[in-house]
Amino acid sequence: MIILGIETSCDEIAVGIVKNGVEVIENTIESSIEKHKKTHGVIPEVAARDATEKIYSTVKLALKNANLKFNDIDCLAVTNGPGLPGSLLVGIESARTLAYIHNKKLIPVHHILGHVFANRLEEDSSPEFPVLVLTVSGGHNHLILWKSEFDFELIGQTIDDAAGEAFDKGARILDLGFPGGPIISKLAKEGKNNHDLPITMKNSQDFNFSFSGLKTALMYKVKNLKEINKINEQEIKNLCNSYQEAICDSLILKLKKAQKKFSVKEIHLSGGVSANERLRNKIYDFTKKLNINFRYPKKLNYCTDNGVMIAGAAFWQQKNIKKNWNFEEVDIFLNKNSLQNYS
Ligand code: KG4
Ligand code: ZN
Repeated sequence: MIILGIETSCDEIAVGIVKNGVEVIENTIESSIEKHKKTHGVIPEVAARDATEKIYSTVKLALKNANLKFNDIDCLAVTNGPGLPGSLLVGIESARTLAYIHNKKLIPVHHILGHVFANRLEEDSSPEFPVLVLTVSGGHNHLILWKSEFDFELIGQTIDDAAGEAFDKGARILDLGFPGGPIISKLAKEGKNNHDLPITMKNSQDFNFSFSGLKTALMYKVKNLKEINKINEQEIKNLCNSYQEAICDSLILKLKKAQKKFSVKEIHLSGGVSANERLRNKIYDFTKKLNINFRYPKKLNYCTDNGVMIAGAAFWQQKNIKKNWNFEEVDIFLNKNSLQNYS
């Protein structure tokens, strides 16, 4: 089954074409990120306008690159939330129109489940359940217990900023540019972990995360260093290293806690921050010791938002939920705290 997936929940305008949930045929990604660099973060109205301008040309380009026509596509899929309302609506209404014109089924996909199924792309083997999935991005930070092919339980999430947001805001405090994750991780390689920064919610009994205290701690550190004239290039690299360690350790702490409770067979990492090498290495070390399989997206552009993860997730969704997917029923879904039930 060939599915064309549309993803416009934030600053990407992405179209992916995937066969049977695994085989990637085309991954076209346009982005409005250059426009957001000036403002050190995504401005929702700017992202929605950019999506409006680019959505149809991106769909056309994806089909052209894949050398396919709409007739070759079995069904359409679209992210219906959570995300920025304006950007989501552009994707949803475009997908509904295309489904109507071309008489195709339209599958609504939860953005986070898209990230979960990004780890299934180009993968030969099915996961062994139960699986613990950590999805870490600019807009979301979830810990999910994946119990069987399409059965998920949200066991933890951020109570304030997401990990990617923490990277982005940290880079802003250090005046390094946007998006912060790739910049901080690059500079961290030449720095030392010599600043004591807090691991927030270290002692909480739940599996939730929090990064706002860490961000504030960084802000005061920078302020104090500036006051005594001790901020220089090397110190910024050290701050990047210490800050990245604190983010990674906060995430791993809850991952370990959840692994202990649920004795999962595999650990998966996904979302934009799964591109982070230090985080990958740290999780790899811990899963190796426990002899647990660790998966993360096969390609860097399957980590950040993309259309192939939506097309992939839609395949498993329609396989497991027997429903006649109708474009008229696809509506925007904004609740960040729930893994929507599609049955
Ligand atoms: O999944 P994504 O594209 O968008 C959302 O759904 O939010 O994730 C974007 C986030 C940004 O916050 C960015 O700073 C972060 O992913 N990111 C990284 C790295 N690459 C992207 N964070 C840490 N290290 C990286 N290498
Ligand atoms: Zn995302």
